[in-house]
Amino acid sequence: MCGIVGYIGHKNATSILLDGLKRLEYRGYDSAGVALLENGDFRVFKEKGKIVEVEKLLSKKKIHSSIGIAHTRWATHGEPSKINAHPHLSFDKRIALVHNGIIENYRILKKNLQSKGFQSISDTDSEVLANLISYYYQNDLEEAVRRALKDINGTYGILVMAKDNPNMIIGARHGSPIVVGIGEKEMFVASDVSAIVTYTKSVIYLDDNEIVAVTQNEYRTTSLSAYTVEKDIQEIDWDIDDITKGGFDHYMLKEIHEQVDTVQNAFRGRLNWDEATAKLGGIPEEVFLTTERVIITACGTSYYSALVGEYLLEELAEIPTEVEYASEFRYRSPIIKKGTVVFVISQSGETADTLAALREAKRKGSKVYGITNVVGSTIARETDGGVYTHAGPEIGVASTKAFTSQITILLLIALSFARRRRMSHQRGLEILRNLVNLPHSIKQILENSNKLKQLAKKHAKSSNMLFLGRHINYPVALEGALKLKEISYIHAEGYPAAEMKHGPIALIDENMPVIVIATDSNILEKVISNIQEVKARKGRVIAIATEGNHSIQELCEDVFYVPKVLDIVSPILNVIPLQLFAYYVAVERGCEVDQPRNLAKSVTVE
Ligand code: F6R
Repeated sequence: MCGIVGYIGHKNATSILLDGLKRLEYRGYDSAGVALLENGDFRVFKEKGKIVEVEKLLSKKKIHSSIGIAHTRWATHGEPSKINAHPHLSFDKRIALVHNGIIENYRILKKNLQSKGFQSISDTDSEVLANLISYYYQNDLEEAVRRALKDINGTYGILVMAKDNPNMIIGARHGSPIVVGIGEKEMFVASDVSAIVTYTKSVIYLDDNEIVAVTQNEYRTTSLSAYTVEKDIQEIDWDIDDITKGGFDHYMLKEIHEQVDTVQNAFRGRLNWDEATAKLGGIPEEVFLTTERVIITACGTSYYSALVGEYLLEELAEIPTEVEYASEFRYRSPIIKKGTVVFVISQSGETADTLAALREAKRKGSKVYGITNVVGSTIARETDGGVYTHAGPEIGVASTKAFTSQITILLLIALSFARRRRMSHQRGLEILRNLVNLPHSIKQILENSNKLKQLAKKHAKSSNMLFLGRHINYPVALEGALKLKEISYIHAEGYPAAEMKHGPIALIDENMPVIVIATDSNILEKVISNIQEVKARKGRVIAIATEGNHSIQELCEDVFYVPKVLDIVSPILNVIPLQLFAYYVAVERGCEVDQPRNLAKSVTVE
């Protein structure tokens, strides 16, 4: 949510900042801006809209600067506009700031600062922080930032420059990530590594309430109370190819195709064939042996994967499991007793609601384990352990490969519980065999993408769609509907197929496409009955069915076949045609697939 990047070194800062912004654009794209220090003056370029607008402004100027900060915005306070875009200058133009987060007490601070002559010209909370820093600034920028941060309530990841100090950028974090990239006679500071991975792979991650003072040759990290904090340098284990489109039209399509590998990466090195179970070093043995109840909490797509996890844990391991939206969990006084273990799921590892839920669970005395994708992310660091999905960077705002990787990990976790409790060796082996066949099956689905493209063409003009599924594929129906509405803006609802008759059936007529997950399972006959109910009301049924089920064609307008797998593994395959369908519908409607309106990757505000 909002992307920030800063550079100090010996090269042209403009191109490095623009490049960084483009890589961060997935975090927000309603306005953008760059502030550079040139000959003792700030040069600020901002524009409403995409980064390309700022690039156009800069292309007309020749600026010689090797220090600057930049921002791509996802609006919280103040509508998207040039004036509300970052960087913000203090009223006296001594300080430039970019901010990711929310300053809750900005109104009162604004009023106080106004009485001291610091006016605000934008509607943002961030400009107030620039003014506050300037108010405290005498000749020590780090100290001024420290004093200002003590006055504010809220969350921030900030970068700050002072007009009279061309040799320093200050960064600070509380709730919104900041990473420092260490180069040769140059330093980078950003909200995430994708902005800087082209230039360096050596990074340090700030923790909450830490400040970094960065110069061309060094960095110094301190706490908010000015104690020195030693940080470990970490090496990023992926590179630029992982964050380019690699010949695909969109990141989303690339990431859908990557699932052949990412699902494999999720289980690679984690299968124990001798014991017919999984090896998950990040979760202590004791957890598998003693847990009596599991709570899983997450948001959005990760929440839907958690729902699949609930079925897996209850069905395979007979562990009572509850799934909660993280945004609800944190305010609901959840009951966590001895024997309860909490899992949090987050692709980015930075989602504010999930992080807050994690902290709430820990406050209540629970151990919390994470399923995260981004190594070194806040959630990964604050949990007591967990499992990385290793899906590589997910740039498309609509999450795809993260979902299938998360379910793969949940399956490994459920298997680990189940094999220690009740599951036979033979059943364990059967699950492992199904898992290792998945990449091949995913490939087969992707090879049939054209069929989904045609279906998308046929239905792209619809205004509503229903997605139905049952049992472990009910969350897949929810995810299919979410994908479609996010990127094509078609209203879509996911429903348990049998629940439809309790209300949504009223919506069905000859204009309503109804996508039904009807793959082989012991409740397939029930799903078929639900299809009949739709058909009887002239609904247009598109079924996702298992190869070899020819009879289903008689009932449905269209059928997309997926390879046969165990029912408990099927969500990993069944979601892929839904991802592709949503993608092609969005393309057909001319929507901006990778940057859907109003959305941003990684929601780091409440
Ligand atoms: C949907 C989507 C969001 C995220 C949600 C949680 O396509 O991307 O719903 O799934 O914001 O994000 P993470 O998993 O990063 O915590």
